[in-house]
Amino acid sequence: MGRRIVVTRRIPEPALDLLAGGGEMWLSPHDRPLSVEELHEAVAGADAVVTLLHDRVDDVLLDAAGPQLKVVANVAVGYDNVDVPALTARGVRFTNTPGVLTEATADIAFALILMTTRRLAEGERLIRAGTPWNWSMFFMLGSGIQAKTLGIVGLGQIGQATARRARAFGMDVIYSGRRRADEAVERDLAARHVSLDELLTTADVVSLHCPLSADTRHLIDAARLGQMKPTAHLVNTTRGPVVDEAALADALRDGVIAGAGLDVFEREPLVHEGLLGLDNVVLIPHLGSATIETRTAMGVLAARNAVAVLDGHEPPTPVN
Ligand code: GLV
Repeated sequence: MGRRIVVTRRIPEPALDLLAGGGEMWLSPHDRPLSVEELHEAVAGADAVVTLLHDRVDDVLLDAAGPQLKVVANVAVGYDNVDVPALTARGVRFTNTPGVLTEATADIAFALILMTTRRLAEGERLIRAGTPWNWSMFFMLGSGIQAKTLGIVGLGQIGQATARRARAFGMDVIYSGRRRADEAVERDLAARHVSLDELLTTADVVSLHCPLSADTRHLIDAARLGQMKPTAHLVNTTRGPVVDEAALADALRDGVIAGAGLDVFEREPLVHEGLLGLDNVVLIPHLGSATIETRTAMGVLAARNAVAVLDGHEPPTPVN
């Protein structure tokens, strides 16, 4: 066949099997992100490259790959690591993995909503630290979510799945975002479209689901945190840089908002030092799609995308 397929990091076996059937596969021997030099060396002569969220795909990588490159298949729904116009300009197809991680990621968003409002990680830490405790009517009170308002920033697939969970827990839903959802979606979720200002000033929990772009980098900064209610909680399961992490640490320390739950960070795997000592923030290490089933489905979808393009077919989930 003579087609070279480069996989920049180990992905689940069923996906590797599919790719191995599609050409001559090179799989990184390291289970870590490749350095930029290693990445550029690896992609030389590739017809297809299967990338992960830490691989930067830009003009330099495309030069390093060469003119035979036909497709870049990202094993993630988010693609802030990829310069899509650069690929399009060279006629290279680009695909991501929407859909298959929607429910798993919404589960984590909702888990963080419960963890932060009910102080679950704080309680767990207390017991593990051997701190003496006694039940009382006033011990470790959190805030209930029933009849409270969830503000969803970005009502895409994951935002909608999070809103469905919120409805089942008795919450009201409002949302903001440039794109208005279909009427049927708004009706099903009883979700009202509002401005970001209105969302921030009225929501009891704000959950971020917009993709990271030049427009959404530091969307939630000190000023926007200041618009939130002092009793409100912020949850981020999209990409770290949507929130100004230093400003969030200050806001949590100073009681500007009540709490936060974070699955993603500005400079992963680093976490802003100001967050680490705070009890009112839940910190988990980018686990949104981290189930066996979801990661397998993501890998298989990326592999199907890559092989489809190599075979001259339309990929299942194209971006360009
Ligand atoms: C993971 O973070 C993804 O974007 O799929």
